[in-house]
Amino acid sequence: MIDTDRIPRHIAIIMDGNGRWAEARGQNRSKGHQAGAESVDKITAECARLGVKYLTLYTFSTENWNRPPAEVEAIMQLLLSNLVEETFMKNNVRLRIIGDRSRVAPHVMKAIEAMEERTAGNDRMTLVLAFSYSSRWEITDAVRRIAREVEAGRMQAADIDEATFARCLDSSFAPDPELIIRTGGEQRISNFLLWQCAYSELYFTPIFWPDFDEQALYDAIEDYQHRERRFGKTSAQVKDGE
Ligand code: FPP
Repeated sequence: MIDTDRIPRHIAIIMDGNGRWAEARGQNRSKGHQAGAESVDKITAECARLGVKYLTLYTFSTENWNRPPAEVEAIMQLLLSNLVEETFMKNNVRLRIIGDRSRVAPHVMKAIEAMEERTAGNDRMTLVLAFSYSSRWEITDAVRRIAREVEAGRMQAADIDEATFARCLDSSFAPDPELIIRTGGEQRISNFLLWQCAYSELYFTPIFWPDFDEQALYDAIEDYQHRERRFGKTSAQVKDGE
């Protein structure tokens, strides 16, 4: 049973296994992404219901631009057809995107930005889509922003600390995720939230993303709730509430 009083504020998910899910059924990989989009709907609604405040989904990585053009196009179309205002409004969910917007086709970007604007007043949960995203890109971009401030004389090198740096990240509006889930059986981070995952609990499951349902989400949260989060302290210190 999950403790509904200790739901992570921010859950981030590497949605892996769409392609293998489809291939195992003798279907085209795009069918796997289609089924994956249904999981996105299901898990978004359930996270909002449970009281998660931020849900970040690794939707399309910088490296995914190298996939066959037909697959890239299928994912773009799926994203577009899933940006349904009614669904966001029904769940009171705000949409935000993190990633390199300059590489995304203008018509896709326009639809995303329109939905970001239309849902800006929704406050139950923020759905963050990491789209055309890689953490090294995000970190490099933050360094570039800071360098510009220094060049312009608005900041001194000595003023740069962890908080300054974190404020320059594309995802600066969200707290660090307490829990990162990866579906599909691989056990790696794949260039996702490298700065933000410093103290995240990692949860790996062999379940392919299209099969990841509400029960799989509860299992991940329950596992997280059994972990002792020490943040570098000793177990005794944590137990004494220091
Ligand atoms: C990883 O599986 C998944 C992706 C690269 C795309 C994720 C896209 C969606 C879930 C659909 C659209 C998104 C939204 C927000 C509606 P993979 O293809 O790498 O799987 P594999 O490892 O089995 O090949």
